[in-house]
Amino acid sequence: MTAAAALAARAQAAQLRAYAPYSKFRVGAAIQMSGEVFEGANVENASYGLCVCAERIAIFTGAVAGARRLEAVAVCTDASPPSSPCGACRQVLLEFAVDPTAVTVTAVNPQGETRSWTLAQLIPDGFSGRELPAEAPEASESGAAARGAP
Ligand code: THU
Repeated sequence: MTAAAALAARAQAAQLRAYAPYSKFRVGAAIQMSGEVFEGANVENASYGLCVCAERIAIFTGAVAGARRLEAVAVCTDASPPSSPCGACRQVLLEFAVDPTAVTVTAVNPQGETRSWTLAQLIPDGFSGRELPAEAPEASESGAAARGAP
């Protein structure tokens, strides 16, 4: 079994633990970060805007465990063709990608269909954070004064 297939199998197992009573769209994710695999599944809420995607739960679990380097992603849904991560999740994945051209994202479904991309293909010219100022602004530079208020 290839590394991508093993990660996809973990995503498929995680899909069974989704809590998706509203959309009925069950998503499982498995991500490899700093050599370790972390799983996630979508968790919905009666207040629909509070639903959290499987990919973000997986990556936040990895981050809190101390992992910082995203290496590979697998997502499992029942969609055909297999569904790719949403835009918000692509941005969150990018945060931990040292080289987005080297991060493979594999989407699968339980019928065995597979699609794959690099993260760079899914979020080209993304906002990586390197655009931010090197140092935090001084207190005097923040707030209304910095925006030109008298
Ligand atoms: N969802 C994910 O978990 N990942 C995605 O990339 C797309 C959408 C979830 C959120 C919500 O629980 C359900 O799928 C329908 O949007």
